[in-house]
Amino acid sequence: MSAASPHLSSRGFFVTFEGPDGSGKSTQLRKLAVHLEAQGHSVVVTRQPGGTHLGDRIRTLLLDSRTENLAPMAELGLMFSDRAQAIAEVIRPALDQGRIVLCDRFTDSTEAYQGGGRQLGSEAVLRMHQVMCGDLNPDLTILLLADFDRSLARARRRNDRVAATGPNEGRFEREDLEFHRRVCLKYREIAVREPGRVAVIEGDRPIETIHRQIVALVDEKLRTRASPC
Ligand code: ADP
Ligand code: TYD
Repeated sequence: MSAASPHLSSRGFFVTFEGPDGSGKSTQLRKLAVHLEAQGHSVVVTRQPGGTHLGDRIRTLLLDSRTENLAPMAELGLMFSDRAQAIAEVIRPALDQGRIVLCDRFTDSTEAYQGGGRQLGSEAVLRMHQVMCGDLNPDLTILLLADFDRSLARARRRNDRVAATGPNEGRFEREDLEFHRRVCLKYREIAVREPGRVAVIEGDRPIETIHRQIVALVDEKLRTRASPC
């Protein structure tokens, strides 16, 4: 990854990818990173939970399906502890250097999963965001929404495949359908509340078609941002 992006000011550009498990976030994030780097931008790719040494340890605790009896509020606190570490160690420094940060999940995930799925409500999550993340909000959020059953099935298949050789990360995918329905509903609520930041992308299409739509969106945002007032 090269030096600072050619067209960006001292603060970089913060893009988050959101959506239910298996909606195609990681696939699209990787493809966007390749596209932006080919254009000469300096790109930092990260994910939550995880993305730092400490965060990876928190990720194991949160995602391992052998973790039992984790209280919902403790889960919420761990998600934000991970995020605070990632902001301090990775995201803020990269943005201060004028780089583009692509982050697989951020606070919208907490609002959807802990606020919606676990039914802790949006207010607790948004208040915690203010305390733990200050004024750091994404410049753009790409929300991938695919057919509910299909994306969950994709995620479960992928996790079974990975669990055979790698980490066991199926704790959330094992939640019941009602949990995942609440997650989707909350995502839709966030999109309606913040249309300027959140772009809803239809995920039930070929990977290349979705990629082209995301590229057009991001290129346009970067172009408008780089233009002088
Ligand atoms: P997420 O990061 O949202 O959980 P992934 O990008 O890991 O999703 O995709 C989950 C699985 O679905 C992967 O096996 C991936 O190859 C596949 N996949 C991703 N996008 C699509 C798509 N548009 N159509 C069909 N399969 C897809
Ligand atoms: P991940 O592998 O990133 O998701 P995916 O299956 O979409 O590739 O796993 C992260 C899991 O953690 C996912 O099920 C969503 C959940 N999560 C929360 O519940 N709250 C959060 O704040 C975050 C960041 C993730």
